[in-house]
Amino acid sequence: MRLTVLGGGGFRLPLVYGALLSDRAEGRITRLVLHDLDAGRLAAVSRVLADQAAGVPDAPEVVVTTDLDEALRGADFVFSAIRVGGLEGRAADERIALAEGVLGQETVGAGGIAYGLRTVPVAVGIARRVARLAPDAWVINFTNPAGLVTEAMARHLGDRVIGICDSPVGLGRRVARVLGADPDTAWFDYAGLNHLGWLRGLRVRGRDELPRLLADPELLGSFEEGRLFGPDWIRALGAIPNEYLHYYYFNRETVRAYRAAGQTRGAFLYEQQARFYAAMERPGTPALKTWDATRAEREATYMAHNREAAGAGGRDAADLESGGYEQVALALMRAIARHRRTTLILDVRNRGSLCALDSDAVVEVPCLVDANGAHPVPVSPLPDHATALVCAVKAVEREVLAAAESGSRARAVKAFALHPLVDSVTVARRLVDAYTAAHPGLAYLRT
Ligand code: G6P
Ligand code: MN
Repeated sequence: MRLTVLGGGGFRLPLVYGALLSDRAEGRITRLVLHDLDAGRLAAVSRVLADQAAGVPDAPEVVVTTDLDEALRGADFVFSAIRVGGLEGRAADERIALAEGVLGQETVGAGGIAYGLRTVPVAVGIARRVARLAPDAWVINFTNPAGLVTEAMARHLGDRVIGICDSPVGLGRRVARVLGADPDTAWFDYAGLNHLGWLRGLRVRGRDELPRLLADPELLGSFEEGRLFGPDWIRALGAIPNEYLHYYYFNRETVRAYRAAGQTRGAFLYEQQARFYAAMERPGTPALKTWDATRAEREATYMAHNREAAGAGGRDAADLESGGYEQVALALMRAIARHRRTTLILDVRNRGSLCALDSDAVVEVPCLVDANGAHPVPVSPLPDHATALVCAVKAVEREVLAAAESGSRARAVKAFALHPLVDSVTVARRLVDAYTAAHPGLAYLRT
């Protein structure tokens, strides 16, 4: 089996490779093709992979290339993990929004729209290329904003593109842990959009265990989301929100904390990663050790400003280990390539799963996965306030897709203005001006 990774020089690639190395079963990935626009980043990551593979018999062969067509030909699976505009672009997305007093974040609010506007045209170009050169390949989209980007690609690849995110899995695992349930046999009643979902139930042997958690303030205070949102708000909601909903439910506090911070998340990662890639150019650098220390620092500081704003303290040890993205991706590939039926929470076209949305809208819901792909499971309707939020954000995503397709600036303004976290059309207009001035990748917004 051959796996191609687009954005193969990315920092998190060793997590994927680590997962591949642990897979000894028949039908595993034997050839890994890394594609990146930047040969230096490919060389850096290759050094880490070589350390990881040392002493492992039959480690998957690694090939690097900067030629997209060559990377795609013959691929069974394609991971799309690109970052259009780099971390510098992410930092600009955050800075420009925060200067207007609205949320600057990679996937949520104004920052997410700017990133989406930049990424969609590139993702569509890739989807078209895959459809032509590797029509039978399964595409697993890691690229954020993952729901929106998956929907853009699905218009060209249909159900052959599947989006993934580790935050619902992490949430499910944390809740299962505090309830003493086995996450592998529990059923997670989770639904929404990417970074905008709610865990409404957790069934063990047919019994919903979530009410037991909701009734116990001490248990609620013992895991990340419980501390972030506070037991009272979670009990009022009757569901556990995805951590990214902190930006909605506590918008003022998060915007204030982000504006007060010396550095945005993107600016921090930009500097951190620049140091890492520079170190990899020095021959004596211990590659795997340096990568792992950088990864640990990244994990420890994840959503630090939100936790600070909520007085939630540091992260739990279990949340600092990885085991997120790469495990979901590996489980998904296994289910498809070896017809090992499983259930995973994925970003796929709705097909009636969430009744408030049309069937082509990409949603994040539990799916049955087998050799035929991912099949969304119908879920119970969301409560009204959640439906309203999901529909509002989906409408914004559709404006982003329309702007990317038509090059219409007015549609881009509409995307920002309709977002629940952007409170003025005037602000939306200024955001479009500032973003187009900052990002060469938005030059297509002309008409
Ligand atoms: C979570 C999110 C991802 C995000 C990742 C890293 O896993 O679900 O979408 O890419 O965190 O976030 P960071 O701020 O470290 O880039
Ligand atoms: Mn995610």
